[in-house]
This record gives sequence, structure tokens and C-alpha cells, in this order.
Amino acid sequence: MDSRLIDKTVDLLLGADHVVVLTGAGISTESGVPDFRSPGGIWERYDPTMFFIERFLSDPEEVWRCMLDMHRSSEFTLWDAKPNRGHRALAYLEEVRIVKAVITQNVDNLHQKAGNRTVIEFHGNMLFARCLKCRQKYGYEEVLQDLEKNFTPRCRCGGILKPDAVFFGEAIPQDALKRSFREADECDLMLVIGTSAQVEPAASLPRIAKGMHSLLRGLGGIPLMKPRCSVIEINWEPTPLTGDVSDFLIQGRSGDVLSAIEQKIREKKG
Ligand code: APR
Repeated sequence: MDSRLIDKTVDLLLGADHVVVLTGAGISTESGVPDFRSPGGIWERYDPTMFFIERFLSDPEEVWRCMLDMHRSSEFTLWDAKPNRGHRALAYLEEVRIVKAVITQNVDNLHQKAGNRTVIEFHGNMLFARCLKCRQKYGYEEVLQDLEKNFTPRCRCGGILKPDAVFFGEAIPQDALKRSFREADECDLMLVIGTSAQVEPAASLPRIAKGMHSLLRGLGGIPLMKPRCSVIEINWEPTPLTGDVSDFLIQGRSGDVLSAIEQKIREKKG
């Protein structure tokens, strides 16, 4: 963990006007929630097509059985996972009004459990289920009881309930999409934490922050670069953003890096 880059990040955080954070599954691995693409990740344990919307609509019982298997698995914590030092550091940065919003690709509710209030759930939230007919929302515990009896939980209106995470082939919730694009466009500093930056449209947010997707175009169609914005990655390995979009990568465990940043800011704030 490069302490010079930590110090540089602390100075940028203290000097920025609008800091936005984009997180991926990597920030939750220290809470026991596997990420998707690292060795031993979720896509090594479960077939990703299980989370295609067409598959759910054609056989909801099969998908709910898989969800129950995940819930019962001893190697897999999601529903009862606890926030780790990385989540708590981001809650502190929002509490001291440095971080304006956390855009998360995660569906584990851990930023909210840690205390962040402005959390944009880009891929929904697996701790809830929603009726496909009337859109009524249910807590997971409520659905689990039903699941033990019949593998296709239903809403009081009779509609089928679906986990409230965004499945492959489903649209990103409009409100989350709009707010995320606006935050990325307005920020002057974006922390990109624990994401492989391989899944669109979330992976475009750092590019929008850098003004590389600027919708504004000047003479001759040249994009008008938005005012200076720094993009800083925190990851234990480089990603497609490294060296292309991000200003620099702090290579390390997100919990270590974020708690070091929190510590230095607490010291500076006295
Ligand atoms: N500290 C720092 N980085 C970590 C840590 C850690 N403790 N653990 C994992 N990482 C990094 C990995 O190196 C990887 O770059 O986090 C990243 C996790 O990448 P993915 O597993 O691809 O997760 P994510 O980027 O969130 O996936 C995006 O893909 O499958 C879909 O909907 C799913 O939201 C998910 C999306």
C-alpha cells in the first residue's frame, strides 16, 4: 500500500468540492461476501445464467431454489453480512461531508448498514423482493418463510415475487441511472473501489467523471472536457480503467486503504 498515494488521496479529498464513490463487490469481500470474478468468486460457484431475467421468468422456482441454497450455504454470507472497515470509512467520509454520494453495484445493503445515507443502488438490493405485477416490495425474511413452503413466493395480489436485484437483461432502475450519471458528471473527484469495471453501464461512470463521455461538444464535435476531475482506484489489482481513465491506482485491500485514509483525515480534522 503506497503511503504517498494515500497522502495524495487525503489531500485531494480535503480539497474537492463534490466527491462521489463508485463501489463494486471487492469492498464487501472482507465482510465474507465473495466477489464475482476473483478466484472462488460467485461466478465459479453459481451459473450466471441463473440470473438472466429470461430464465427467471421461464422458471422462477428454479431461481428461488438457488437463492435458498445461497442463503443456506455456509461459505456464502450476504443476508447477514456485516459492514467492514472499508464501509465504515465511507460512512465517516459522508458524515464529515466529504463524500456526497456512494454509487454501488453491490446488492448487499452494506453501505446502508454502515451508515451511509446517500447510496445509489445501481443494481438493486438482494435483501428485498418485489412483485412483478404490482411492484410491492417485501423484506427478504418475509419471503424466506414463504420459500420454505413453496418455491415461488407470491405477492398478496397474486403476482410472482422476484429478488429486487437487477438481473442480466433487465434495465438499470431509471432513477438510479439518472442520479448516477448526474453525480458522475458533477463530481470533481471519484473514488472507484473494488470493481473490475467490466460491466456496463456502471463501468462508464468513471469515464463520465473524467469528461470522456461528455455529452457537450464544441466546434467540430470535439467533446468539451468537463472541469478537472480526479479518478482514483482502490483495488488489489489493476483494472481496464488503470492507466487509461484513473489518475492512479492504490493497490491494496480496500479495508486497509480506506481505514488508512480515514485515520489521516481524522488526524487532520483533529
Ligand atoms: N480489496 C480491493 N479490491 C478487491 C478486494 C479487496 N478486499 N476483493 C476483491 N477486489 C477487487 C478484485 O480484484 C476485482 O477487481 O474487486 C473487483 C471485483 O470485481 P468483480 O468480482 O467483477 O465485481 P464487480 O466489479 O462489482 O462486478 C460488477 O458484475 O456480475 C455483475 O452484477 C454483478 O454488480 C456486479 C457487476
